[in-house]
Amino acid sequence: MELTQTVAIRPTKHSRIQEVDFSHLEFGKYVADHMLVCDYANGTWKTPEIIPFGDLTLSPTTLALHYGQTVFEGMKAFRLEDGRINIFRIHKHYERLNRSLDRMCMATVPEDVFVEGLRQLIALDKEWVPAAPGTALYIRPFAYASEAKFGVKVSDEYKFVIFTGPVAGAFQKPLRVKVETEYVRAARGGTGAAKCGGNYGGAYYPTQKAKEAGYDQVLWTDSKENKYIEESGMMNAMFVIDGKLVTPPLSDSILDGVTRDSLLTIAGDLNIPVETRPVSIEELEKAFRHHTITEAFGAGTAAIVAPIGTIHINGIDYHLPDYTSLAVMYQLRDKLEAMRTGKETDIHNWNFVL
Ligand SMILES: Cc1ncc(COP(=O)(O)O)c(C=O)c1O
Repeated sequence: MELTQTVAIRPTKHSRIQEVDFSHLEFGKYVADHMLVCDYANGTWKTPEIIPFGDLTLSPTTLALHYGQTVFEGMKAFRLEDGRINIFRIHKHYERLNRSLDRMCMATVPEDVFVEGLRQLIALDKEWVPAAPGTALYIRPFAYASEAKFGVKVSDEYKFVIFTGPVAGAFQKPLRVKVETEYVRAARGGTGAAKCGGNYGGAYYPTQKAKEAGYDQVLWTDSKENKYIEESGMMNAMFVIDGKLVTPPLSDSILDGVTRDSLLTIAGDLNIPVETRPVSIEELEKAFRHHTITEAFGAGTAAIVAPIGTIHINGIDYHLPDYTSLAVMYQLRDKLEAMRTGKETDIHNWNFVL
């Protein structure tokens, strides 16, 4: 794909890559040398620029700081077996970004700015893409209302930025999660399906309370009846009940996770029965009593799959059996990793190889 506008590239004179300990990567510890920045004003996006990673300057009246027009994405690039680099499901992330932007009344980003801009950014920082199993280059595109204006209004100006950083896998110890029936993350008709900043800010307080009570995360329930499981902090929720992979259906209060979609597709490939349907708290309680629930896990870009060991429901801690490498979640994860690192054929056309 050719950019309709060229990307202006100003490479750094001082790479920081020597400071990176690639054998001890953590999530969020390092950012790569460059970032892409693109401004929207007067109804058009300007020429995207790739510049050294650094601070952005903001006026105190910047609208995003007050009224919350901010949206982000989270995605990964992988080092293939043959040394090339794969940006995983770039188009699905691009589409979700624009759906989020649209929901927040923000200017959508042109495909060439996102796809070609990201391709050039990663090509410039290619040495930052790690190769060890489970590692990846995490990619954080985001946009915010950049107009400096005193007063409540939809912004007429936006800034779109992409930065990246090498990461290792996260959350491998089984999580303790609390089913939340008092607070809600997202209401029907609200912004839950958008990856907008406010959804995360609003989730901190209940999550903090769950942490104080000894849990790692909350499992959100629906806002109307607090009866059905929605999703977890930064992950979609999945269960194995009666040998079937079960997950709540998408709605306007659940984020359409790219990992969720990928794992459901792979489950189909592996002939694992899948049910996308409401999962009530009552069903989980019964499944624990009858020992028909064998797995619970979160699915998301950061952790891929995060095993859940304990689920707290209405005052009771229910425990999942110990997981072995044969668990459905690990079969799905391993297949996904094999496809996106080039060990297996990319039969679904998910890879965007540089
Ligand atoms: C609220 C929420 N749900 C689910 C997910 C999982 O989505 P994905 O698999 O696209 O990372 C995320 C992470 O992006 C999230 O923030």
